[in-house]
Amino acid sequence: MTMQISQLFPTALLGLASQSPLTFASEATKSEVTSFKQTGLRHSYGGNAICTTGDATVTVNATDLVFSGSTTASQYEISGILREALQINSTWTADHTNGTAAVTGPFKIAVQLCLPTKSTSENYSYVNAAAEACHATLMYDRLGLGGSDLPDPSIVQSFVHVEVLAALVGALKTDMYGSHHFSKVACVGHSHGSFIQIGHDVKYPNVGDAAILTGFGSDLTHVAQSVLAGDATVARDVDPARFGDLPDGYLTNPNAASLMVHYRYPYYDTRLFEQQLPIAGSTFSLADVITSGLVLASAKGHTKPVQVVLGQYDFTFCSGDCSRTADPTIGAVKTFYPDAEVGEGYIVPTSGHCINNHYASGEAFAHMLGLLKEQGL
Ligand SMILES: *[C@@H]1O[C@H](CO)[C@@H](O)[C@H](O)[C@H]1NC(C)=O
Ligand SMILES: *[C@@H]1O[C@H](CO)[C@@H](O)[C@H](O)[C@H]1NC(C)=O
Ligand SMILES: *[C@@H]1O[C@H](CO)[C@@H](O)[C@H](O)[C@H]1NC(C)=O
Ligand SMILES: *[C@@H]1O[C@H](CO)[C@@H](O)[C@H](O)[C@H]1NC(C)=O
Repeated sequence: MTMQISQLFPTALLGLASQSPLTFASEATKSEVTSFKQTGLRHSYGGNAICTTGDATVTVNATDLVFSGSTTASQYEISGILREALQINSTWTADHTNGTAAVTGPFKIAVQLCLPTKSTSENYSYVNAAAEACHATLMYDRLGLGGSDLPDPSIVQSFVHVEVLAALVGALKTDMYGSHHFSKVACVGHSHGSFIQIGHDVKYPNVGDAAILTGFGSDLTHVAQSVLAGDATVARDVDPARFGDLPDGYLTNPNAASLMVHYRYPYYDTRLFEQQLPIAGSTFSLADVITSGLVLASAKGHTKPVQVVLGQYDFTFCSGDCSRTADPTIGAVKTFYPDAEVGEGYIVPTSGHCINNHYASGEAFAHMLGLLKEQGL
């Protein structure tokens, strides 16, 4: 069983719009999936898996930061805040938050459980490659994105993402998604998803039977510039038809060029890029950006296998050249998983940050699935 968190690095901002009720509660509950409603069935791209789509209701035990002041911001203010919050040695977060509050949900999380069927091959789909290797996958939309709930964006923080992940992993070990349960769960994160994965393993060591962090490395020095290169823009202004109903604080990447910091030409299929463009660009909030790094710590006591996978030309974690310094994949294993009994790194040749969308994706998938095979998962 592999869980995939398929998100780009979040590229947008804050806003305390009050369309959605805050779900603060004084009593901590366990983070768990309390119900699941199937909404459809489809094949994975490439046809190797049959996927049940559905909505999981998730309650969480998360502690968020509380932003102070009125933050329903204009594009000017948002762009200003983002620069101030990401500037070197910024004190913005300390200056603009006032304590913490419990967040419990419940939140709707859109998930897809994919079980292997027959074997065909198609590039660019980890779900499909995993099915070919006989792994089921659970893929989901992060809170604040796609088919999942889009609550008041100020509460969409990494602390909540960590708890949603914990709930979804826990549910895999029961019959929560129909009659399927899994004794082993390997977690796969991408970019922001890798931050969330580390946060999860810090708080819940050894719950996942393996952690694969893609689009992530040890050098965080230039992450801020890469976020800024994404041109975080108020989502409603970018695409009123698609995002018109969202609260103000949701942001997105406004156009093709703003996504290209994550791509390395000519090592990807531009036709595919164009096809995906109408659905590309995740939504994210200022709170998402500000809190993404706050769950990073050393996952002490997490002994399960870890693999870090990074594109050779990744701008976010290598300033565009991952061969320049000490191997940032091994560096990430050492920094974040000091107790892992197996720790591997793999630099994907000729790939940018969005590994799955480059021609070399197949090589990355082979390494990722190779770890699971080696480890008997
Ligand atoms: C909720 O989270 C807090 C802080 O991490 C923890 O101390 C507490 O035990 C958790 N409660 C439950 C029921 O898991
Ligand atoms: C930033 O803070 C670090 C200590 O956390 C300090 O060593 C460094 O000099 C500071 N840089 C600037 C530009 O202030
Ligand atoms: C911080 O929150 C407390 C409790 O809600 C409130 O009394 C106080 O005025 C707030 N402080 C600031 C600086 O907003
Ligand atoms: C799929 O990947 C293989 C090599 O990994 C490549 O030769 C082939 O052209 C790719 N197919 C498509 C449709 O991109």
